Parts: sequence; C-alpha cells; structure tokens
Amino acid sequence: MKNLDIQINVKIYAFEELSIADRELIEAARQATFRSYAPYSHFSVGAAARLANGVVVSGCNQENAAYPSGLCAERTTLFYANAQYPDQPVCTLAIAARNEKGEFLAQPIPPCGACRQVMLETQTRYRKPLRVLLYGTENIYELQHVGLLLPLSFDASAMK
Ligand code: THU
Repeated sequence: MKNLDIQINVKIYAFEELSIADRELIEAARQATFRSYAPYSHFSVGAAARLANGVVVSGCNQENAAYPSGLCAERTTLFYANAQYPDQPVCTLAIAARNEKGEFLAQPIPPCGACRQVMLETQTRYRKPLRVLLYGTENIYELQHVGLLLPLSFDASAMK
C-alpha cells in the first residue's frame, strides 16, 4: 500500500488586502445575492466572473418548486458568460452568499461539487487558469486555479 497525499494552497486575504479589480468583482457577487431567487432555501448566492476582455458578468441561484430544476449561482454565471462571450476565457470567479437572516456569511462560501466540475470545464475549455475568490466577511479565500478545488478531477483527458 502507498499513500498519495495531496496538498492544496489557499491564500487567505482580508478584503482590504485585495486589488481594486478583485474588490469590484466581489462587490458584484455580493450585489448579485440580492437578485437571487431562493424562496425554498432562503440561501442567496451570487457570483461574478471577470472575462479576459474585462467584462464582468454576474448571476445568482435560481430555485424551482421541483428542486433539482434550480441552478446554483456559479453555474448560472458561468453558463451565461460562456453563452454570451464564447471566445472569452474566464479569468476570475468571485462567489458570495447570504444566510436566511440575510447576513453575508462570515466564512468563505464553499462551492458545491457540481459547480466545481463546471468551473473545471470552463478552465479546461479556455486553457487558462480560472482563479476563484470565495468571499466571507471575515476572510476571503483565493484559489489560483480550479484544480485546487477539485483534486483527482475528471476532465476530457481522462477519456483518452
Ligand atoms: N447554492 C449555490 O448557488 N451555490 C453553491 O455552490 C451552493 C448552493 C444554492 C443552491 C440552492 O439554491 C441554495 O444555494 C441552497 O443549496
């Protein structure tokens, strides 16, 4: 038996330590939480993507009475970005969330597994690292590429 130990690097920032561009992206993700449609979970998630051409697009979770028909903020945002700007790599994705009391989470919001897989596809598609900023009011996590969120990931290369 052998062990494979996988380490990931997460950079932790206070909001004031971030670049202006990253602060703006986080603010766009925060604002997107107010457009969330979450009548079932009352958990409002927002995401904002900065594309290589500088455009910022944002999205939020969209729930449905038939629960699995809804979609997370990250996928809403990435699919919109890819649909509107299919030739533009996504450089950075910021994610923010508010709880049922309407408060922003103190700790960084961890994206669900399905969203991590979609982030990986976006990164693979454009052959460019997709940075991820997970917002919390107390600190912010930066993952410099999606592989850090999804070790031992499945992508098209696994099918060769
Ligand atoms: N949600 C997201 O939008 N992103 C995530 O990464 C985690 C969960 C949404 C889905 C659902 O509308 C609500 O949060 C509760 O799961």
